[in-house]
Amino acid sequence: MISNIRMRESIPSSREIKDAEETDEYFLEFPERRISVVPIGTIDPSGKFERGTDILPTVNTPVYAVHKKLINDIYKFYSIGDFSIGKLSLIPEQDAKIDLDVFLGRHAVIIGQTGSGKSWTVASILQKIANFPKSTVVLFDLHGEYKNAFNNEYIDFIDGKDLEFPYWLMNFQELTDLMIDRSEFSAPNQIAKFREILQQAKETNEENVTLNIPKITIDTPVFFNFQNIIEEFKRLDVERIIGATGREKNGPYHGHFTRLIMRIESKLNDKRFNLIFRPVKYNTSASMELLFRKILGETIDDPKKIVIIDISPIPMEVRNSVISLILRCMFDFVYWYKRINEKTYPIAVFFEEAHSYLSENERSMKSTRLSAEKIAKEGRKYGISLTVISQRPREVSATILSQCNSFMCLRITNPDDQIYVKRLLPDSIRGIVSIFSTLRRGECILLGDSIMMPTRIKIDKPDPAPSSEDTSFFNEWNQEHEEIDVNSVLNAWRRQED
Ligand SMILES: Nc1ncnc2c1ncn2[C@@H]1O[C@H](COP(=O)(O)OP(=O)(O)OP(=O)(O)O)[C@@H](O)[C@H]1O
Ligand SMILES: [Mg+2]
Repeated sequence: MISNIRMRESIPSSREIKDAEETDEYFLEFPERRISVVPIGTIDPSGKFERGTDILPTVNTPVYAVHKKLINDIYKFYSIGDFSIGKLSLIPEQDAKIDLDVFLGRHAVIIGQTGSGKSWTVASILQKIANFPKSTVVLFDLHGEYKNAFNNEYIDFIDGKDLEFPYWLMNFQELTDLMIDRSEFSAPNQIAKFREILQQAKETNEENVTLNIPKITIDTPVFFNFQNIIEEFKRLDVERIIGATGREKNGPYHGHFTRLIMRIESKLNDKRFNLIFRPVKYNTSASMELLFRKILGETIDDPKKIVIIDISPIPMEVRNSVISLILRCMFDFVYWYKRINEKTYPIAVFFEEAHSYLSENERSMKSTRLSAEKIAKEGRKYGISLTVISQRPREVSATILSQCNSFMCLRITNPDDQIYVKRLLPDSIRGIVSIFSTLRRGECILLGDSIMMPTRIKIDKPDPAPSSEDTSFFNEWNQEHEEIDVNSVLNAWRRQED
């Protein structure tokens, strides 16, 4: 691969000048042309290409341009099933074939500054995935951009307003994180008692008795009635008991739960938490099947290939709990799927605008980050993949980025971002970062093992495209003034409905 081309005037040696003078000859200066190359691989006599090389060319070895057919063969060799995401920028008729198994299986990053074409790239890749007879892709959409980017029959678009992910799917850790403030002096008491009450609530729920589960634990995902738990906390909080002396006195937990109850009730009464605390569709253990079928696009008789979850209507405070729960549940699902079927159930999860919820520093999004980090670290074995899409790579968890093998870099001009990305890349290809600022819209450099070599690619346009067009101030303002309906906007805002 040519990494640099230079041309410079040759400087004749004094000996050469002297010789020329003596023989009365003219000395012709000629420019020297130099290319720097990085060896990519070797082709053996049978035409088989192999990445890397242990033989380097010696001085004066002739150099040949590679024939197009050979380039195609090489890309093909490193892809599977001709899966291509666009065309090579340098050879516009050559498909950019990639190995989808590596791209997804070993996690990917799509980065680029705003307007560089990330959303279009995602739509384009997903549309290609949708050509398979089946697939399981879950896309977290932060701006509701993707609704129109697909033909409806194979996608399920879950509006955040219709999403329900009930509290009873949470494990003990997640529930305590949500309810208990560890800085409170009675926190250890609260946790111990909660453990006991929760265990009992799960065991004594009528439906659960019929499920034939030999041992229900506090982490078993079965329905329990949250209201009963609060009632029990309230009872303990004001309990009076008869002491040894026969006189009435405060019970052992008297006053220990007052603040906890207040905290939980304020969440229960907060409508924004309804999707967790007041499930309407999923309020029996049996309903868990329906919920998982919905999230995985496995609805009976109407399977979907791509499930888009529009999280834009979900308030910030609730997002963390919901997304981390969805991720953890998907991980547990593929884990148990593999345990009982001895094969994997591949799921690809795409995170749009990942910096806003997989961020290193944002404490309120910690559990989401941890769930995603777990997938990044262990997902490969169970066939669950993560694709991080972001315009601010510096803010995305470094643990996640370091587990990603494929880097799809669109235009990045910010020098700090360039330096950051440079550090994430292997030594041998760091120089390529200088090209990032020369990329056009919808053009990327794909790095990593999913492609034969670092390649500049013009990504195929998605059809239909996501709704992320730039606003044309020029065209919009060039039209006659027209009354706008302010009230309809305010109404929609107030009712949170379009
Ligand atoms: N492959 C492409 N071919 C042609 N035009 C493209 C391509 N990709 C993107 N564009 C143009 O660039 C615009 C912005 O693309 P896109 O919305 O995907 O950017 P983005 O990187 O997701 O930005 P943001 O970070 O703000 O979400 C599109 O509206 C489209 O006009
Ligand atoms: Mg975008």
